[in-house]
Amino acid sequence: MSDALRELYQEVILDHSRQPRNFGPCDAANRTARGNNPLCGDRMVIYLMVENGVVKDASFEGNGCAISMASASLMTEMIKGRTADEARTMFERFRRLVTDDDADIDMGELDKLNVFAGVREFPVRVKCATLAWHTLAAALDGKGEEISTED
Ligand code: FES
Repeated sequence: MSDALRELYQEVILDHSRQPRNFGPCDAANRTARGNNPLCGDRMVIYLMVENGVVKDASFEGNGCAISMASASLMTEMIKGRTADEARTMFERFRRLVTDDDADIDMGELDKLNVFAGVREFPVRVKCATLAWHTLAAALDGKGEEISTED
């Protein structure tokens, strides 16, 4: 990855962490899940409004590092208007992007998520980047209990 690209990616992450999009509870939410990263104790809540299998609205609350906040911010932007299955597929691709060095991932229209590709060099940060996504999966599955990035 070139230095210029790395810098651009860092700017996007900083922007989303300082001014997270879709931050706060969603009054119309009909799916909610809580996530926990036991490595640091940071917690997150994901709110979804799902209608006819489509994520109509998504938001989140929580306190965490820049990567976890930026990841939740970008995730909530990207899943709106997607079906639940598309959101799950996005999670699988994202997980491979941040964990698999050899992955040949076609992020296609999900290319915004490439800003997190550098995370794979820092295994502890993978949990930060995936906290929102694990919590999203629990919300889509209708799981009531708090999920952990260690599960
Ligand atoms: Fe806690 Fe990143 S340090 S989520």
